[in-house]
Amino acid sequence: MWLLSRKECALNKAEYVRAILGGRSQAEAVKSEGVAFAPANIALCKYWGKRQRELNLPQTDSLSVSLDALGAHTVLRRAAKDRVFLNGVEVHENEAFFVRAMEFLRLFIDPCQAIELETQSSVPVAAGLASSASGFAALVLAMEDWFGWGLKNREASLLARIGSGSACRSVHAGFSWWHAGSRDDGMDCYAEALDEVWPDLRVGLLILESGPKPIGSREAMDRTIASSMLYRSWPNQVEKDLAEIRSAISGRDMTRLGEAAEQNALSMHATMIASRPAVLYWTVATVDTLRRVWALREQGVAVYATMDAGPNVKLLYEASSTEAVHTAFPGLIEVRPFSVGV
Ligand code: PMV
Repeated sequence: MWLLSRKECALNKAEYVRAILGGRSQAEAVKSEGVAFAPANIALCKYWGKRQRELNLPQTDSLSVSLDALGAHTVLRRAAKDRVFLNGVEVHENEAFFVRAMEFLRLFIDPCQAIELETQSSVPVAAGLASSASGFAALVLAMEDWFGWGLKNREASLLARIGSGSACRSVHAGFSWWHAGSRDDGMDCYAEALDEVWPDLRVGLLILESGPKPIGSREAMDRTIASSMLYRSWPNQVEKDLAEIRSAISGRDMTRLGEAAEQNALSMHATMIASRPAVLYWTVATVDTLRRVWALREQGVAVYATMDAGPNVKLLYEASSTEAVHTAFPGLIEVRPFSVGV
């Protein structure tokens, strides 16, 4: 496919990290612990598909909103041996969470220095709720705190991206626009905070299932690109949706934002479903929830749905619809992305 030509990597991950950190020390911590928080984010216009795997360079731009206080609280410190704790429970070194976190940290920190990592995640891990995004963003910010590198936001975003693509958006609160860039070395591929505040915007999380996903997003993206004819239209869909969503944000226009975000999510899932074998994250509960959202909208409530690489549904609405939405969806977790202003 024309848009899928995989370029040779200009840099591998380790070279890329060195190019960004330059002479900044990766050995001398300025504090005994590095502590940071990074929010989860929900894409209003999705990222689906890489143009280069090594550095997580995407095919298209994407745009998200961060989930205020929902995210990852991370602490890093020296230890006698590498240890990882997730939500207070020690993670075995063979588990994927341990391996991915340590592989990432080892791009920055010398293996002679054993590390203890403690993460409290307030979002369910691997439920398509962007827990890896907040996790990798928090790792970068915790290292920044620990080593005192003085990273600029752009640099933090560039670094978080190689942990998980969508993590580059989680270094910002509020709206975050990830520029796909065009360089092979990834240096123009980072997220930028939008200077927009929408205090009445609400994101409702409906956790229908919290188990691990049937297929990881990395493999699912690759399969979509390799086998889904519908993926050919995805870049055009994104271009149209991004323009609409950006303009809806400026105008605080819930109808335009919701319609574009919902169609964008459904289009992304359509590209996956058209893969061979099909990638289907939805369950019966997902479809039932979508129908209930549409029924509520028929009754005049401006509520819209979006879904990521998992069965759960996120709702988009404004403060004025809170009561109606809560009545229809009693288990809803409501997030105010702009509770404290950005
Ligand atoms: O960053 P990853 O590899 O977890 O991919 C995330 C992809 C989606 O959540 C489905 C969409 C997005 O833009 O967040």
